[in-house]
Amino acid sequence: MVTSNDIRATFLNYFGRNGHQIVPSAPLVPRNDPTLMFTAAGMVPFKNVFTGQEKRPYTRATSSQKCVRAGGKHNDLDNVGYTARHHTFFEMLGNFSFGDYFKEQAILHAWTLLTKDFALPKEKLLITVYHTDDDAANLWKKIAGLPDEKIIRIATDDNFWRMGDTGPCGPCSEIFYDHGPSIAGGPPGSPDEDGDRFIEIWNLVFMQYEESANGRTDLPRPSIDTGMGLERFAAILQGKHDNYDTDTLRALILASAEETGQDPDGSFKTSHRVVADHLRAASFLMADGVLPSNEGRGYVLRRIMRRAMRHAHMMGAKEPLMYRLVPALTRQMGQAFPELNQAEALITETLQLEENRFRAMLDRGITLLKDESANIASGGALPGAVAFKLYDTYGFPLDLTQDALREEGKSVDVAGFNTAMAEQKARARAAWAGSGEAATETVWFELNEQLGSTEFLGYSTETAEGAITALVVDGKPTTEALPGQNVFVILNQTPFYAESGGQVGDTGFITGPDNLRIRVTDTQKKLGGLFVHIGVVEAGTARVGQAVVAELDHDRRGKIRAHHSATHLLHEALRRALGAHVTQKGSLNAPDRLRFDISQPRPVTTE
Ligand code: ALA
Repeated sequence: MVTSNDIRATFLNYFGRNGHQIVPSAPLVPRNDPTLMFTAAGMVPFKNVFTGQEKRPYTRATSSQKCVRAGGKHNDLDNVGYTARHHTFFEMLGNFSFGDYFKEQAILHAWTLLTKDFALPKEKLLITVYHTDDDAANLWKKIAGLPDEKIIRIATDDNFWRMGDTGPCGPCSEIFYDHGPSIAGGPPGSPDEDGDRFIEIWNLVFMQYEESANGRTDLPRPSIDTGMGLERFAAILQGKHDNYDTDTLRALILASAEETGQDPDGSFKTSHRVVADHLRAASFLMADGVLPSNEGRGYVLRRIMRRAMRHAHMMGAKEPLMYRLVPALTRQMGQAFPELNQAEALITETLQLEENRFRAMLDRGITLLKDESANIASGGALPGAVAFKLYDTYGFPLDLTQDALREEGKSVDVAGFNTAMAEQKARARAAWAGSGEAATETVWFELNEQLGSTEFLGYSTETAEGAITALVVDGKPTTEALPGQNVFVILNQTPFYAESGGQVGDTGFITGPDNLRIRVTDTQKKLGGLFVHIGVVEAGTARVGQAVVAELDHDRRGKIRAHHSATHLLHEALRRALGAHVTQKGSLNAPDRLRFDISQPRPVTTE
């Protein structure tokens, strides 16, 4: 059997042989786009190369890109486990031309690779093109020799691909595989196209335009972006119909079956799939620096983890399950993705900690959910206030409650849930107003409520793009800050560490369009999670909504990091010299020094 690892290698080597740079997968957290939650397509890391903003030493590339579709615009979380082809994590194989070759070469490469290297029978393949794209239709006829009825013209957006509301886009041509008449479903464009017989395997996008707030413009040069889901392609080559029956996912399902003692294909089939899929998404996200939290990407990760943990619990796992499956994952994917091996200890520890914590609340939460939903008929909805209590007191993300009720054909009153959430915020606001805090601090409370916590990227990068979400000048929110003004800047995400735990805040620069340059002299955290960059506008005008680059002072951070490490070494050394009673009482980690306060009843001798 051809394995998923073989398929990936064959694909990359084919394009490598044909003049493409083999580029390692970029991280799941996009470094070049503050508007995206996760990398959800192979072209995302190349976005600025398509538009001409960024130059690379090559004009052809190929990659197998890690993708997560959960939480953001592309969200498949709710379907995972119940279908044959939904994943929160998957790999997208692709080849790219940045103003190099265009339609003809792209079609020729795809056809050659599929029918020669992968030896798929030509009769099994059919094609769609955008309805006005005569060029593509003629090229398919010429290169593949397909009859007209196998080159289907589609007038909908299915054959016009865009990255998002903005970014590169263009008409596309999709290659479909026919699983044969034993499976129900019609060809693309027909009324029963949603059946499982004809499966899209490869999308060739003829990138020609860039969509921006001001409308559509031509790209500097026509380009190519393609995407083929490794899992569904592996299913075809391995003679399967379900992505979860392919080698990699099956190995994880078997590991889950082994650890829980539940039949992999029995009544817990859905749960095993959820566990297998979510193990991949969670582990790869952590390898790329995302850690579970209550905000932003970290909260999506937590939702993925907790959804899997509830299914583990349903399967009767008496101990935390997920962390025990990590070795099976690194065996399958560690060679192709070395970051997984490097982060194995962190992933294992975080999964275990999170599952231990969550299990402590899970039983009581499940009992509450059972009691409250017992009298609701199938088709009915759980009151929003109960879903909110499960969220607030028992740590059940809303989609976890929905997932649990779905099995009984019930749902959640989401509007009621949102009302309960809004009421809680109103109570917090009232308590704050009466707390006697200075008026200047009120601004942080309001911004925190409006924007939520800042996403911290500094565990994995010291430079990142972000969008300015708020500016504060003279204690008041404003939409602009001019040269010479002292300003507090809030970004949606930042690599700057805000002072806490004794470590001082980062300094550096925020730069942006039209020579914008803000010197950041300190970073402070407000209300637990709002990162405030304190600085002065040196050039240009800062505006709310602007995309900027935040780059911290690397040399200074290196020195702070060294002092932070030294406090831990000092702590251990003091415990060894003075005794196990030595505990940390406070510390300072600055670029030029450290201070470490300890509990110690007698003076420490000079010696
Ligand atoms: N970017 C294209 C897709 O995601 C290839 O389908």
